[in-house]
Amino acid sequence: MEQLKGRDLLSIADLNREEILGLLQRAKSYKGGGETPNYRGKTLGLLFRKASTRTRVSFSVAMYHLGGQVIDLDPNVTQVSRGEPIADTARVLDRYVDILAIRTFDQEELVTFAHYCRIPVINALTDREHPCQILADLLTMEENFGSFQGLTVAYLGDGNNVAHSLLLACALVGINIRLACPPRFYPLQEIVELAQGYAKGTEITLTPDPQVAVKDAHVLYTDVWASMGKEQEQSDRMPIFMPYQLNQQLLDLARPDSIVLHCLPAHRGEEITAEVLEGSHSRVWDQAENRMHVQKALIASLL
Ligand code: CP
Ligand code: NVA
Repeated sequence: MEQLKGRDLLSIADLNREEILGLLQRAKSYKGGGETPNYRGKTLGLLFRKASTRTRVSFSVAMYHLGGQVIDLDPNVTQVSRGEPIADTARVLDRYVDILAIRTFDQEELVTFAHYCRIPVINALTDREHPCQILADLLTMEENFGSFQGLTVAYLGDGNNVAHSLLLACALVGINIRLACPPRFYPLQEIVELAQGYAKGTEITLTPDPQVAVKDAHVLYTDVWASMGKEQEQSDRMPIFMPYQLNQQLLDLARPDSIVLHCLPAHRGEEITAEVLEGSHSRVWDQAENRMHVQKALIASLL
């Protein structure tokens, strides 16, 4: 994984198939107690403009396990929220910390950080993508099915950041992907086209029909209907998205050994029923745990 050293992860498509598989291999080894490098004296900066439980804590714990330290670059207590240009902030932070994980709204802001930082910059979620999440999702799929060969993932709901990274990742590693979204909420066309370009013989399906998507699928995946920053649309979106709720009827159409994933936080009774989230097909807690293992592998590979 020497080739990842010093690189950024702004999109899951910054990695090729071999690099993704290499990271998963490394994550599996760390999860099984395998030896990790020692990053004593190295500092991970977390600059988050949005709330986070999993990403914040899993990145922090991963860095501590690697012997390094973490600094919270809360925009509200730095000059970031007072309008200091990103280009200036980036060039200053670059002199202090060794690696930076950023959660923000606009992908362009992340790109600007990466442009002005020599250190690795990681996308910890933007409105466009959530690549760290999808690395954990892939690890969870691999743990359950042994390989990606012949797998079909069905994603239900909003064509959002998680859907974008999932679509790109499935195309890259060779998993069939079906996205069922209300037509107004399809993933960005440019992301669909990118994914089509990466896919080599695997299926990419966009459909307004959730039943078509879940039929005989191995993995059923959903996410909130109104992402962070879109909360004011929540009530308008509810009736539009209700047919896409991941419930027992849809689960019954998938393979008997299918697994249910959700990046969390979940809204029970909206995008997923409590029954399905807490049911025997659900792997959401393993999936959340895997965030820490894949991000440990990511930090170790980028540093
Ligand atoms: N799944 C995820 O990224 O969770 P957080 O928003 O809690 O980090
Ligand atoms: N799509 C969600 C994911 C949260 C982890 C959001 O952006 O709010």
